[in-house]
Parts: sequence; structure tokens; C-alpha cells
Amino acid sequence: KRVAILISGGGSNMVSLVQDMQSGDHPCEPVLVVSNVPDAGGLKKAVDLGVETAVVDHKPFGKDREAFEAELTRVLELAQPDIICCAGFMRILTETFTKRWGGQMLNIHPSLLPKYKGLHTHQRALDAGDAEHGCSVHEVTAELDGGPILGQAVIAVEAEDTAETLAARLLAWEHKLYPAVLRRYAAGDRSMLRLG
Ligand code: GRF
Repeated sequence: KRVAILISGGGSNMVSLVQDMQSGDHPCEPVLVVSNVPDAGGLKKAVDLGVETAVVDHKPFGKDREAFEAELTRVLELAQPDIICCAGFMRILTETFTKRWGGQMLNIHPSLLPKYKGLHTHQRALDAGDAEHGCSVHEVTAELDGGPILGQAVIAVEAEDTAETLAARLLAWEHKLYPAVLRRYAAGDRSMLRLG
């Protein structure tokens, strides 16, 4: 299966996915890493891993989300991906895009969905006094952070945790969860995976 990965920043989840795909006996190969941020740190990491990269900067499109997404789709279609993984991709996608790529697009979100859709998930879990926190990999639909959940990793919230320490501990689990879910998803297994 041909996998394209969308990033906006450091791309640590992209690195985990690519390294797992390159580790052998994997049904997928990474065919493109696309960033909407021209100087995203993840782009160099992708180049160093030997993966084709592209930039589709959203800024020139201003408020015209559809125009940005049309260009993103054009670039993606050149790579002919079977699966698209959003990994630290920070653009909200319109229904047009999620309809075009629906059924073949995944995302990782740093909360135990359906709790804490959107931003600042770690602080919100702390503010709520949650004993547990975690990350979720889900299929991307028109609803932000709302598609069917394919996997979750659960961690305990420690008394001395801050949003930063929680995010850092969770990121290590994201790097375990996303590659495991992609392997299952590529093999047609849509059952829920739970780690931690
Ligand atoms: C991670 O917390 C991920 O859950 C969220 O973006 C953050 C950075 O991800 N989607 P990455 O290091 O760019 O993969």
C-alpha cells in the first residue's frame, strides 16, 4: 500500500510511521510527505529517510480553504496514495477534502476521543482532574477529530504532571500506536487496538 503523510511541524509521528514501514515485512511504503508549512522540521527528517517531500503552503490561499485543498489534492494525486496519514497536521479539512479522501485517511489526536476534540488537550485533561489521558488514531471524516476510532493508548496522569510533561510522555505512546494501527488498517483490520 502506498502511504502519503501530511505534516505541519516536527514530524515525529511521521518518522515513527516511516521507520516502521522501512523496517521490513510491512504492507506499506511511504511515497510522499507533504507539509503545509514550508520550513517544517519534519521535511528534512523525511528527506534524510529517503522519502519524497512536497510543500503546499496554505498562506497564499488566505481564507480560501477549498483552493488550498484543491492544490493539496493535486499534489497527492501525483503520488497516487492508497492511504493518507495526518501526523501533526494542523489544518482543519473541509467536507470537500474529507469526501475526496474519506475511507483512506487517518489522523492521530492527543486525547482519549471522543473527549477533548480540538486543541490544548493535555491542559484540558489536567484541568478536568482526569486520572487517565491518552491518544487516539481515527479515520478522518468531515467532523473534526470525529471519525471511527481505530486505536487508543492510555496513560496515567501523575500528580506532578504539567501539560508539557504529559504531552512528552504521551508522544512516546503515539509513536507506538500509530505504526501499529497503520499495519492493521493496511491489512483491512478495522478492529480497535488498545495499548497501555
Ligand atoms: C502530537 O502531539 C500529535 O498528537 C499532534 O501533533 C503533535 C506533534 O506531532 N497531532 P509531530 O511530532 O509533528 O508528529
